[in-house]
Amino acid sequence: MTTWTDLQDHAAKVKSRRISELFEKDNRAAEFTAESGQFLFDYSKTNIDETARDLLIGLAEGAGVAAKREAMFSGAKINETEGRAVLHTALRNLNGSVIVDGEDVMPEVRATHARMAEFAQAVRAGRYTGQGGRITDVVNIGIGGSDLGPAMATLALAPYHDGPRCHFVSNVDGAHVHDVLKGLDPATTLVIVASKTFTTIETMTNAATAKAWMAAEVADPGAQFAALSTAADLTAAFGIDASRVFGFADWVGGRYSMWGPIGLSLMLAVGPEDFDAMLAGAAAMDAHFREAPFAENLPVLLALVGIWHNQGCGRATRAVLPYDQRLARLPAYLQQLEMESNGKRVSMDGADLVVDSGPVVWGEPGTNGQHAFYQLIHQGTRIVPCEFLVAAEGHEPDLAHQHLLLIANCLAQSEALMRGRSLEEATAIMAKKGLTGAELERQARHRVFPGSRPSTTLLYPKLTPEVFGGIVALYEHRVFVEGVILGINSFDQWGVELGKELALALAPVLDGRSEGAGKDGSTRALAARIRALRGM
Ligand code: F6P
Repeated sequence: MTTWTDLQDHAAKVKSRRISELFEKDNRAAEFTAESGQFLFDYSKTNIDETARDLLIGLAEGAGVAAKREAMFSGAKINETEGRAVLHTALRNLNGSVIVDGEDVMPEVRATHARMAEFAQAVRAGRYTGQGGRITDVVNIGIGGSDLGPAMATLALAPYHDGPRCHFVSNVDGAHVHDVLKGLDPATTLVIVASKTFTTIETMTNAATAKAWMAAEVADPGAQFAALSTAADLTAAFGIDASRVFGFADWVGGRYSMWGPIGLSLMLAVGPEDFDAMLAGAAAMDAHFREAPFAENLPVLLALVGIWHNQGCGRATRAVLPYDQRLARLPAYLQQLEMESNGKRVSMDGADLVVDSGPVVWGEPGTNGQHAFYQLIHQGTRIVPCEFLVAAEGHEPDLAHQHLLLIANCLAQSEALMRGRSLEEATAIMAKKGLTGAELERQARHRVFPGSRPSTTLLYPKLTPEVFGGIVALYEHRVFVEGVILGINSFDQWGVELGKELALALAPVLDGRSEGAGKDGSTRALAARIRALRGM
């Protein structure tokens, strides 16, 4: 069984060697690439060698990834701190049967999916209307998992839109809801309140604002609201008829929820058929994750590469760089998926972690990022493992030449990161420009790229609903495997609670009802200055 020390000792030995030297062995590219369905995952441009891969697989085996994976798929309560099963995979495998607390949960999942499809068809066909006729716009009000998934997916599948326009409001900043509603006609707008708990302060505040906006023009505003939630009593109290409430069980985590009712806005935009194609793509990734041996298993490999770079080599962040404009929201989505899931300092039994928790995840689509932060990735002192995603083809046949340029940039970046440019090469370039002596040396040093900076590439034919579903499921399972190896509970999020509690307690300090006794000096001084600036 591999120990953390085994992995870290090997990483210490090899992490500074030149990755390009590994390619002196002929078939490195093939040996460090894995394929499944429409995906090819190339992790050859990293410092992972056979020994590292064996150690990493040993770590996954020792952590019981296979048994925990089966426990998850079969409905065991693996979210131990909340006493819940983790079954988002059931939302995309509609023909299955999964028993939780002695009952098959699938008939209800299927019934809700059918109701969603029926409602989506009715809206799209103009059978369900607003006071002013056919629904032209849908506003999804939600935050975190009740926003990021559907917002990302709606942008990702833009070429498939043939339904109403979809808009997303998440921030409690009144500017967000104001700016979204400003251009819309309440009489032809459907508002979806998406909240698993139906208590989240941001969402409920924005929902109340939207209801007042609707009520100014529409006689029965509740009739143009739908709710996506586990809390049927609260949706009824808000005034939304049960026929437009789409419920789900507590075993769907917020950040894993876009596959069910929380995906309603996407279903309205693209229609049930394309929505189901996305589910099918995710289900295909689920099947691969469940069946493929670790050395060929894409989610497992993605996780092992992550563990290698973070806990093995000490790289604290990773950049997700989609060369796919329609995946612009993927990095933000992954920030919640990865950091809310694996940003934990204690293991399942409450003991301190002996290694670092999950990494800081960030990114932007290429090529935009190239003109912003790639400077640091190429020449900064910290090493940032990069994860590139790219499609062989775009959706715009007339712009195929632009797509080729996009791909060329993607491949060029991973090549440049690995290869770098030596002082010798930089000196030759600057000498050709006529520089000599000390100035030549100084200028050349600025033009050196250290290289040997790791990256992976996920290649797929085209961003179809199936492929998109597969990408998201791939990352979900990657996070799961990393969490199991770290020994943590990836499915709770206690770390978001304290700030929520303190925000509620601060409201009376900000509006002057309380002086803030017990608050620290900084918080009291800031609150006092804010009251003064607001003329209170
Ligand atoms: O930020 C905490 C969190 O609970 C997330 O996990 C969740 O996605 C988000 O808030 C929204 O919660 P809800 O869907 O219950 O409004």
